[in-house]
Order: sequence, then structure tokens, then C-alpha cells
Amino acid sequence: MGIARVLIVGSGGREHALAWACLRDAPELSVIVAPGNGGTAGIAENIAVDVIDAQAVARLAAEREVDLVIIGPDAAAAAGVADACDARGIPVFGPTAAAARIESSKTFAKRVMEAAGIPTARWCAGDAADRTRLSGFIAELGGACVVKADGLALGKGVMVCADVAEAERALDECFGELRFGDAGRQVVVEELLTGPEVSVFGLSDGRRVRTLVPARDHKRIFDGDRGPNTGGMGAVAPPPDTAPDALLGEVSRTVLDPCIATLREQGTPFVGCLYAGLMLTPDGVRVLEFNARFGDPETQVVLPLLDESLLDIVTACVRGEVSAGVARARPGAAVGVVAAAAGYPGDVRRGDAITGTDALDDDVLCFHAGTARDAGGTLRTAGGRVLCVTAIGPDVEAARARAYGNLARVHFDGLQARSDIGRPVAAGARS
Ligand code: AMP
Ligand code: GLY
Repeated sequence: MGIARVLIVGSGGREHALAWACLRDAPELSVIVAPGNGGTAGIAENIAVDVIDAQAVARLAAEREVDLVIIGPDAAAAAGVADACDARGIPVFGPTAAAARIESSKTFAKRVMEAAGIPTARWCAGDAADRTRLSGFIAELGGACVVKADGLALGKGVMVCADVAEAERALDECFGELRFGDAGRQVVVEELLTGPEVSVFGLSDGRRVRTLVPARDHKRIFDGDRGPNTGGMGAVAPPPDTAPDALLGEVSRTVLDPCIATLREQGTPFVGCLYAGLMLTPDGVRVLEFNARFGDPETQVVLPLLDESLLDIVTACVRGEVSAGVARARPGAAVGVVAAAAGYPGDVRRGDAITGTDALDDDVLCFHAGTARDAGGTLRTAGGRVLCVTAIGPDVEAARARAYGNLARVHFDGLQARSDIGRPVAAGARS
């Protein structure tokens, strides 16, 4: 059966990029994005829905008789959107809530990594009752460690600690002050690793994995990787300091394939995008985290480089017949620069008028995230990360120059953007 109607769940730049890629592959496709944003409204139909109301999403998919649901956000996967679609017989790309625990519980992910022999940081997990054991492990590491809230904490539940006092304070914040609410009642303490970071997406049918070009996001708000963490201020693919083919071969063999095999053996097969967050340490590749979805903003640079049909790969995954290997990528590189609203990543201002998005070069992409059209049709800011301008070039420097040259045409009051997206990450630049 052909795919005529697709429902994409979510409202960010990632979902705009997914919708764009599906329509690139199949221009006649009917695409619904729920709830979508000001950008998806221009290429698809937006329908309001609460993405963590699994039954409401599945009902919408049934009512609109879609042939395929693609889940964007982790919260939707963790809330059981795939389970609700499965129950109605609706094909869905995205893991069940049980398989999505690879992202929604860091302890679960560590246990899977241990069972599968996947290279990762040494670790110790526990709750307030295990404080003595956790403190013992911190002392054993000499205090240099990372304390992670076990559950989903909007990407903010990771505390990098330089010494014992900082690490103990991090435990106090999790257990005493409940800084991350229930998500932090259980923690994972990890050995502190160093090295550049890379994200790899593996699209899986539960058995086999097809990998996409590696990417890197830039999480800090300011140039030189300084200031507070954000949802991601931009991304580059492939990262300039990696050898993509060698990396993908190693990551498939040592990380993605064993993870998918172990999840299947445990009775929770994973169908969807398995995202490996990796650190290239002096001792080799180590997994920092798994996510159960496409990354944002990495998707906004990975999909423009994909030289195969995303829709075909995703459909093959859902049917249990994806072919393993590396998906073909266009030569060259892609750089995506995020324009964020005033105040981001703190309290953001909304409602500023956005101009210039229609003045970009034809082959430069503008993926919307926090945008909405007002009653008069004016595009306005409606969230922290407002949009991402993505350009492709023969190399990273060329792609960078085009992305920034085009971003300069976009305006709204308070626009914040980094000027160094795609540049190699400065060693030790953290504050
Ligand atoms: P996570 O959400 O687990 O990927 O962690 C968020 C960020 O924290 C990562 O992108 C890294 O920059 C940092 N991080 C996580 N785990 C470690 C680790 N074991 N050593 C050093 N940095 C880490
Ligand atoms: N770019 C990081 C994430 O999607 O989690």
C-alpha cells in the first residue's frame, strides 16, 4: 500500500524539517503536523493536539485516516503515542513507551548498555537511600563526574561537576530540593569524559539499522560554548573533525546494532530513530546518552544532506524491512544556525514580528520552530528557538558563509544567534 497521508507529531524545527523532507520525496503527499508551527502551516495542515495525550493523537490519526504517524518529541514517545497507534493498527515510526525508556530513564539506558557491551562512561545509579554508595563512587572518581537526573528533564538534568563538593551539592539538589521533581529522585553518576561530541541517528525496524550522516549540535547559548545550555543553537553535518564513513561503521557495530538487538531480546523492540549521543574520547567512542527520536536541531542539517527518500526509509522501518547500512548522503556539508528569541534560554519574549524569511536564497532552508501567524497574517515569535536557517555547501566553511549571509536578512527584535556554528569546538571552553 502506498503512503498518501502522514501525520507528524510535534511543533519544532525538527518537525518542520521532517515535513519538508517527506514532501521533497513525495510532493503529492498530504501532511498533517500536530500541533505544528508558523512554518509547517505553509507546507502542511496544522492541527492542534496535546502531544502527550496519546489517545488524542491516535484518534486524530484514525479520524484523518493517515497511513503513517511519525513521532517527533521524546515526551510523545514516552507518553505512549506509538502504543496507542499500534492498538488501532495505525503504522507508526517511533518507539513504544517501553522502548523509549532508552531515553526516558538513564538507569535503564545504562543497564541496556551494560548488557549489550556498549562502550560508555563508568557509572553508579541510585536514589536518596543509596547516598552512601553514590558518595563512595564520587570519591572513587576523585570528584570529577557528571550527575544526571534519571528521568526526562527538558535536557537540563545533567550537572557536570569538577570536585567532590560540587558533586555532593548536585545530589542535594536532586534529592533534597527536588530541582528536577520526580525525574531527579533517581540519579546516575558517571565518570567525566572529555572529547568532541557527535550525534548519530540510526533508523531501525527493530532488527536492522540504517544510519544517517553524523552531526553536531552546539548546546550553549554563547560563542565558544559558553553560558547556559539551550535546546541547541545550531548544528553542522558532518562535523568538520570527523571521518563520517569510518565513524558510522564503528558506531553501527559497537553501539547501534547491539542496542537494537538487546532491546529486542528484552521484549521491547525499538522501531524509530535511535539517536546516539557520543563523545570521541582519547580512548575511543563512548555513548553519553541515547535518545528515542530525531535530534533538534541536528535533523535540520541531516535531512537536507540525505540523498535517499526519508519516507521510503521510514516506511521500510515500519514494515520491518529496512536495509542495514549507511544511507547515501549528498557530498559537502550543511550548517544550520538557530535564531532565538530575546530572553532565551530563560523567560522568552513572544510576539515580535519576524521579517526577511521570504528573502532567502532559493536553495537555503528556513525551518521554523517558535513561530506563529497572527490574525492579520504577520509572522511572530512564539517560542524560545524561533527558526533555523540551513545552507548546504561544498564544505563546512562554504555552508557556514551561506547560512550566515542568509540569516542576516532575517530580523526580529531581540534576535540571538551564535556566530561560530560549525566551527570546531574549543577545548575546555565551558563556563
Ligand atoms: P546527556 O543529556 O546525557 O547527553 O548530557 C548532556 C550533555 O552533558 C552532553 O552533551 C555532554 O556535553 C555532557 N555529558 C554527559 N555525560 C557526560 C560525561 N560522562 N562526561 C562528560 N560530559 C558529559
Ligand atoms: N540536539 C540535542 C537533542 O535533540 O537532544
